[in-house]
Amino acid sequence: MTRIRFPDGFEWGTATAAYQIEGAAYEDGRGLSIWDVFCKQPGRVQNGDHGDVACDHYHRMPDDVALMKSLGIQSYRFSISWPRVLPFGTPQHRRVQQPINERGIDFYSRLVDALLAAGITPCPTLYHWDLPQALQDRGGWAFRDTAAHFADYAGLMYARLGDRVERWITHNEPWVVVTYGHRVGTMAPGIAEADVAARATHHILLSHGLAVERYRAEGQGGAIGITNSNSSYEPAEADGSCDGAVELARDFDTRLYTGAVLGRGYPDSVLRHYEARGVAFPIEDGDMATIAAPTDFVGVNLYSRTRVRPADSGLGFTVAPPTLPLTPMGYERAPHALGDFVRFLSAEYERPKIYITENGVCDNTEPVDGEIDDVDRESLLRGFLEGLHRAIEDGADVRGYYLWSLLDNFEWSFGYSKRFGIVHTDYDTLQRTPKRSAGFYRDVIANNGFD
Ligand code: FCB
Repeated sequence: MTRIRFPDGFEWGTATAAYQIEGAAYEDGRGLSIWDVFCKQPGRVQNGDHGDVACDHYHRMPDDVALMKSLGIQSYRFSISWPRVLPFGTPQHRRVQQPINERGIDFYSRLVDALLAAGITPCPTLYHWDLPQALQDRGGWAFRDTAAHFADYAGLMYARLGDRVERWITHNEPWVVVTYGHRVGTMAPGIAEADVAARATHHILLSHGLAVERYRAEGQGGAIGITNSNSSYEPAEADGSCDGAVELARDFDTRLYTGAVLGRGYPDSVLRHYEARGVAFPIEDGDMATIAAPTDFVGVNLYSRTRVRPADSGLGFTVAPPTLPLTPMGYERAPHALGDFVRFLSAEYERPKIYITENGVCDNTEPVDGEIDDVDRESLLRGFLEGLHRAIEDGADVRGYYLWSLLDNFEWSFGYSKRFGIVHTDYDTLQRTPKRSAGFYRDVIANNGFD
């Protein structure tokens, strides 16, 4: 008897992102993205790593699809590199004869065909952080026109892939783009300005809404949603003194993004925080309704929990030191976090339809005699899935789970130093080797659960 069994029809997938796996950064007419530029700036990325080759997925795509098929993967969440299909970011760019890069579109079209032939449901994300540098040069997400350009790019992809793709994600983790890309500056484009962060928040969410409206206007019959990053916030002390800090943390994280998309507007606490710094969100008439254009599901990314306590300055809360063991990524090993967060989301927004669009574990176990015995990954995955299963039993409407990640890949500012794959990537030979956790996941999928 399988002890933990997920609902019939629950979908099991894996997730990746273009810049983290594709490589072929200068091939077939691809334009530069902000990550190409950021990685080449000294000191930005650990070891000076970059995604020029990454996992070379661009050339090995058929083998990677076959690998997924061999594991029984049912759905694949990948991202489309905006500058690979629109090297200058917009279909209207006037300085070039052919603003649409057909060779880039062809790659994604072939990927979709290969997935469907393998019985795998494609789930593309339109923006997983690789803005065309040409748009950054004009102001990037601080610039309102970028939202309109995003909707044009989305429209192009619907037109080319929408006959075969029925599940779309607009953005991946705007919170990370805003916080690390525009407020702290440790990720591309490396800006650390409150004003730019506020503008980027609003324009990214606006671009999401415009892309959803475009999807409906074009009569596409599939589903569309957004993926937000989350942590499960917990009070550092159990005496009630930190409960306000938990709510504040949720305001700046989940409620600012998921809440706005689900029609709740921006949290007052966040607007006040920016106002106190002389910064206003550049909201124009109708924007909040556009941002709240009805979506079909909420994408949840979650890796851990965060303990918080009140603070007199900054955001009004601060992160308390970890008390649980850490993964090599520095995240607390908190198996209960996924179920807890899903329960919170379900209660907060009246039981939305949810896909877990990322969850996984950094475990840097290296091969020994060709075997990768990543027991720490497997045990934490089990814990996450047990918690998720309990949340579903308690009534959360979760339709599927995408494990991050299929392959070890380029982990942004950490370069290649953090391994999240259930398949090992040898960065010298680019050989793929399924790890112990890949076997675990294959069995989970085959049984729709585990003992
Ligand atoms: C998420 C990102 C994803 C990957 C994982 C580990 O924040 O969406 O690209 O880096 O973390």
